[in-house]
Amino acid sequence: MDVQGPDDRFFRHLVSSMRNGVIAIHRSGTLALMNDEAYRIFSLTRGVDDVGRPSAELFRQRPELVRALSGVFEMTTLPNRAELRLKDLDRVIGYTLSQVRDEDGTVIGAVVFFKDLTQVEQLEERERLRDRLASLGEMAAGIAHELKNPLAGIEVMAGLLRRQVPDSPDAQSLLADILSEAKLANSIVVEMLEFVRPIRLQVEHTGIPEAIHGAVQLADTKAARGSIAVDVRVPVDVPQIQGDQHQLTQLFTNLLINAYEAMEGRGRVAITASTVLQDDGGEGREAVRVEMQDNGPGMSPDVAEHVFDPFFTTKAQGSGLGLAIVRKIVDAHDGQIDLRTVPGGGTLIRVTLPVSVSRDAL
Ligand SMILES: Nc1ncnc2c1ncn2[C@@H]1O[C@H](COP(=O)(O)OP(=O)(O)O)[C@@H](O)[C@H]1O
Ligand SMILES: [Mg+2]
Repeated sequence: MDVQGPDDRFFRHLVSSMRNGVIAIHRSGTLALMNDEAYRIFSLTRGVDDVGRPSAELFRQRPELVRALSGVFEMTTLPNRAELRLKDLDRVIGYTLSQVRDEDGTVIGAVVFFKDLTQVEQLEERERLRDRLASLGEMAAGIAHELKNPLAGIEVMAGLLRRQVPDSPDAQSLLADILSEAKLANSIVVEMLEFVRPIRLQVEHTGIPEAIHGAVQLADTKAARGSIAVDVRVPVDVPQIQGDQHQLTQLFTNLLINAYEAMEGRGRVAITASTVLQDDGGEGREAVRVEMQDNGPGMSPDVAEHVFDPFFTTKAQGSGLGLAIVRKIVDAHDGQIDLRTVPGGGTLIRVTLPVSVSRDAL
């Protein structure tokens, strides 16, 4: 670089401000310049006398880099977009090589521009995964949908048949079994549709107390409560949240059903709510925290670890989708869910929902 005077300073600032990593070497192989981003990408620390030292020696810990630079003066066609992987740092670096020529066209050095592609790659990978999941979900939804009609048919026909054989107790009991199995299959199909369907939140100002009370009523129609006492203590001043009333009711319903099923007709469920500051890495944002504590059998650590996985169930007739749907609804609201449980010591589920859903949530 033959630039001098004020321009020289400008070019220095230009190189050091670049968001790409830049490394330039002289024809002799000694380092001419290397900006901060290049040091960061390769996880090297700048030494005061780096400039002027042989690059092969300087980058000894980074053989990938030495390899990329080697032969740059012999190559006639230089790669436009090449990549190198830093295995130990789990980093993917894209780079372009250029030869530096003087006014006579003589090659006097080489320069490499680097871009850390790790994040780009991760994003692409996540996108691919999302696409795959989306098409899997579509397929599952399609199958579930197709199953609904034949299942309804089985139910109707078994019902008709029942009336035709009123005097045969054996046939009656078989038909009753067919009916209840068909109903079970149908409820699994309905849950499956709910699980795979992408959530589109109908966001409105939603009262958490209303969602909880709705859930208490709805849970009664879906599970046997027996003599379980439900104690709802929600202060009147919990703020309304920006959420989907229907989805939130569904969330608490699923939690209640699980509690009822775990307690088998006897026990107590306590539901409380409070206003908290949710940790968001900054000052925290206002959120409503709902805790549901039952005094059922609790769970072993093995079970607790998997309860949110789709299709994980410990019940003979469970779908394993209740908590997977719960997690999905909580995520859609940009909230958090955790659980505390000990075998024999009941289960506490804690749901924290921000009062306002940030625009870029999801
Ligand atoms: N309140 C609870 N007490 C004890 N175990 C629970 C509770 N809630 C959930 N579980 C466990 O988590 C599993 C998964 O729950 P869920 O996703 O709703 O599916 P399912 O209810 O169909 O089994 C249950 O099978 C059960 O083992
Ligand atoms: Mg369940």
